[in-house]
Amino acid sequence: MDFKVADLALADFGRREIQLAEHEMPGLMAVRREYAESRPLSGAKIMGSLHMTIQTAVLIETLVALGADVRWVSCNIFSTQDHAAAAVAVGPEGTVDAPSGVPVFAWKGETLEEYWWCTDQALRWPDGSGPNMILDDGGDATLLVHKGAEYEKAGAVPSPAEEDPEEWKIILDLLRRTVNDEGRWTKVAEGIRGVTEETTTGVHRLYEMFKAGTLLFPAINVNDSVTKSKFDNKYGCRHSVIDGLNRATDVLIGGKVAVVCGYGDVGKGCADALRGQGARVIVTEIDPICALQAAMDGFQVTTLEDVVGIADIFVTTTGNYDIITADHMGRMKHNAIVSNIGHFDNEIDMAGLAKVPGIVKTEVKPQVHTWSFPDGHQIIVLAEGRLMNLGCATGHPSFVMSNSFTNQVIAQIELFTKTDQYPIGVYVLPKHLDEKVARLHLDALGVKLTTLTKAQAEYIGVDIEGPFKPDHYRY
Ligand code: NAI
Repeated sequence: MDFKVADLALADFGRREIQLAEHEMPGLMAVRREYAESRPLSGAKIMGSLHMTIQTAVLIETLVALGADVRWVSCNIFSTQDHAAAAVAVGPEGTVDAPSGVPVFAWKGETLEEYWWCTDQALRWPDGSGPNMILDDGGDATLLVHKGAEYEKAGAVPSPAEEDPEEWKIILDLLRRTVNDEGRWTKVAEGIRGVTEETTTGVHRLYEMFKAGTLLFPAINVNDSVTKSKFDNKYGCRHSVIDGLNRATDVLIGGKVAVVCGYGDVGKGCADALRGQGARVIVTEIDPICALQAAMDGFQVTTLEDVVGIADIFVTTTGNYDIITADHMGRMKHNAIVSNIGHFDNEIDMAGLAKVPGIVKTEVKPQVHTWSFPDGHQIIVLAEGRLMNLGCATGHPSFVMSNSFTNQVIAQIELFTKTDQYPIGVYVLPKHLDEKVARLHLDALGVKLTTLTKAQAEYIGVDIEGPFKPDHYRY
């Protein structure tokens, strides 16, 4: 079995944590029981690109239990938990000397070259074929396949421009070496029945490709299942933003001024958590609706320019770029903490920061750096501007990820077994499946649902079994 992880000796530790996580992931375990015999993913060759954590290990082993043949990478250079990667590679039945799990190519602290090498490896099956399904988080695997096929069709990979970001140059270099006359990437793209996408940023990319007419296979937008974005993005970040700050700096949050940029699902969770710790939280927004929500939730809403010099903690949650610029960082307080929890690292202008004349970067510990300005003040940057909850801590806890990943498994079954019903496009799962995911998590929390009477159901125009809301309902 081909794979690359940091240290297989960590597999036992990983396995013990996987066993604890399974208990906290009732949705995934229920799906395993439901499909134990029918194994609807038999024949599926799933390439996954999603943070290689303990929770993801439970997802991977669920896909395998349902019959899938899986290869995996992390979707971020810092987010792998090495013991999880080792346990998945060794597998529940394997040993360190004879691993028999899933080929994983992931370790914490990859270089960008290694990151894209891993992605390429996970797209190569040992028999020379590719996957027939992708499970993506942020869209990097989908991007690589699309760009490879595009350049193969065009007959050449473009040369990077001087000003292109470093990562784009690395991608082009990889494609230059892997685009070939046999049409490797074209064949990979043609073999894929569909992709299920985990996060806001990846979904955004898919809709853009569909609009431009360049999307090559159908996609299910898992992010916008209510039981994903209204839970993982919100309650997951409410937990893990604090975990990231604590493990990175252990600074007391109470009494500090914290700025949360963006008040979408992630921003709402982060602002709530920081307030819960006693911080005075200030929100920035571009959308009047979200700004009004923040105001009515009791937060001061203003521009970053207004508060950049008084805040102690900054968290970007926008999925947009250039939110905190080098100029902003030059005006911050001494030891202000600068962090991002959005998917990509360009929310904070790290490239611009590195170019400030006379700036000195010092590693405090991995994923925590001070940047000292010539005027003597310094700031603390977490996870080099990458998502701090996964870079500095261990991401979201199992229970909330069980909701997200149960949607992922259902979406994989849907696209793999009903391919004909999904022409190229971007789809969300139907509401009855969303409600099913929620149902699977109620017992564990001791929730008792009220059942509609027949007359009540008729009065509000729904079925007793649901769905209980129209598709346009916003929760
Ligand atoms: P969202 O679209 O619900 O929220 C983003 C908000 O940022 C929007 O309300 C938007 O109006 C606002 N915004 C955009 N540009 C802005 C600017 N220049 N200044 C201030 N506000 C601005 O998206 P969601 O679901 O909250 O996700 C945000 C990011 O977090 C995405 O990149 C997503 O992929 C990522 N994500 C990260 C997770 C993690 O564990 N680290 C978990 C879930 C999502």
